[in-house]
This record gives sequence, structure tokens and C-alpha cells, in this order.
Amino acid sequence: MIKNMLILLLLIPGFVFAVETAIPLDEMEPDLNDKASLQRGMKTFMNYCHACHSLKYQRYQRTADDLGIPHNLMMEHLVFDPSAQIGALMDNVLSDDTAKQWFGAAPPDLTLYTQLKGGPGYFYTYMRSFYEDPTRPFGVNNLLFENVGMPHVLLDLQGVQRKVCKDIPKLAANGGEVRDPLTGESVSEEKCGEELIERGYSPLGLVEGTGQLSLEEYDQVIYDLANFLYYTGDPSRQDRERIGIYVLLFLAFFYVFTHLLGREYSKEFH
Ligand code: HEC
Repeated sequence: MIKNMLILLLLIPGFVFAVETAIPLDEMEPDLNDKASLQRGMKTFMNYCHACHSLKYQRYQRTADDLGIPHNLMMEHLVFDPSAQIGALMDNVLSDDTAKQWFGAAPPDLTLYTQLKGGPGYFYTYMRSFYEDPTRPFGVNNLLFENVGMPHVLLDLQGVQRKVCKDIPKLAANGGEVRDPLTGESVSEEKCGEELIERGYSPLGLVEGTGQLSLEEYDQVIYDLANFLYYTGDPSRQDRERIGIYVLLFLAFFYVFTHLLGREYSKEFH
């Protein structure tokens, strides 16, 4: 009984990130020591996302201090709300009702997003999975989040992505290529998405010359954003890990004395 419960407890962290996704998630390894990346991520967030998405569980001041940004620079270049003070929460003014009218859904607060939904890898994949879809109100859809209400706000940077369609040899149920019985030539069929890899992200292809950034540069922008949101999800993470090491060292040191004392006491029992 106890053993089963322990096994379940061990499995819980695995369940947290195990979300069912439409496409496989790309790996994203956050690095909270990379202050420059966090600062760039915040800059992109404040410029492109904050108008719609609040970070209302996070304060400007704490963020500035953690990211090594002087308060005056933060207020001048990153805080666009003239009424906001440095100690204010990073909220915005877009109400849920208005947003629902405009986009069909309210943009969620993103402070804890990477903690709640699939980890930073989910976010990283989502931001790279927008593709052209003329049937949608903003002309884009998302492979990971079908029929998403959000426009692709970084379209100018990334460029237009399209689902790639290609003729590939048709396979029979037994795995062999299907051949035309008369000519003996292999039969091909058009496939869109899924198993195709092209320039851009499989199964999406990037239309050359439509974006300001190269593929690698765009990936870096999204990496920095994901890193920043990983930070806001748990701003004390680094402090905790640093203090944790001291606590463990202290316990190891303390153990020696407890052990010696225990030995002294147990002498009396023999
Ligand atoms: C014009 C408003 C607007 C802007 C600007 C905007 N978003 Fe969104 N975003 C939305 C809306 C609306 C939704 C909700 C979509 C839905 O539920 O269909 C959303 C949803 C999301 C989601 C959640 C998807 C999910 O899994 O639920 C993420 C992550 C996200 N946006 C990130 C960003 C980032 C990062 C930026 C800046 C680069 C940004 N958004 C800029 C409107 C916006």
C-alpha cells in the first residue's frame, strides 16, 4: 500500500507535463543564468505581447532586479503604461469582454503559462507553428492550437509559413510501394503536413523573403521569450536552488556531529 503510494508520488512530476498535443513538441532547455536572453525576452514581450497578455502575478520592480535592469531604464524603455509605477503589477487594460468580442477568446495571463501548460517546450513550439490559412479571421492558424483566436503578431519577423504539400510514393498496407499494374511505375499521392520536412519547421515551409529574420534568428527570439516566461513562472527558482545547496551542505556537516553525539548517548545502553 505504502509502496504503491510512493510510486504514484514519484510519477506525479511526469504527469504534470504529459499533455496530449496535436504535433510533437520541440525541446527547449531554459537557461536562467543567461541574463541577456531574459532581457531580450522581456523586451519582445513588452513590445509585442503585453497589450493583450497581462503578467499580473509579476511586478516590474522584481523583474528589473532579477534581470539586472536598472529601474530608470526599465521605466523609460519597457513600461509603456504611463500610469504604472515601478512597484506595480504587470497588468494591462484589455478587459476579457472586449477581447472576447475582438478575438473570440480572452488572451490568458501568461505569468504562469509555462508552469501550467506543457512546459516551456509547449510555448516554444506554439510560437513557431503559425501557418497561413485564409479561412481564419486573421489569415493564420496554428498546428499546435487549432483555430486559435490569436493573430500571428510576429509574422513580420518570421515571415509566412505554409503547410507543405508534396507528391510522395503511395504505400500499400504491407508497407511496399504501390505500382501501376499496367506500366509498373510507382504511384504517388499528395500528402500535406505530417511526415514532410522542408525548410522551416516540419511540416511547415517558410515562404522565402517574407520575414525580416532568418530561421535561426527567429528561433532565438522565441527561445528568449520562452526563457523569460519560464522565469516569470517561478521567479524564486534560482534563489531556491542556490539556498538549497547551502542547506544540504549544512545538513551534511550537522550529520557528523549528530552521529558523534548519538554514539556518545548509545554508549550508556551497553
Ligand atoms: C492582439 C492580441 C494579442 C497579442 C498582441 C498577442 N496575443 Fe497571444 N493570444 C491572444 C488571444 C486572443 C489568445 C487566446 C486564443 C484562443 O484561446 O483561441 C492568445 C493566446 C495565447 C497563448 C495561449 C495558447 C494556449 O495554449 O492557450 C499564448 C502562449 C500566447 N497567446 C502567447 C503570445 C505571445 C508570446 C505574444 C507576443 C509575441 C502574444 N501572445 C501576443 C491575443 C494576443
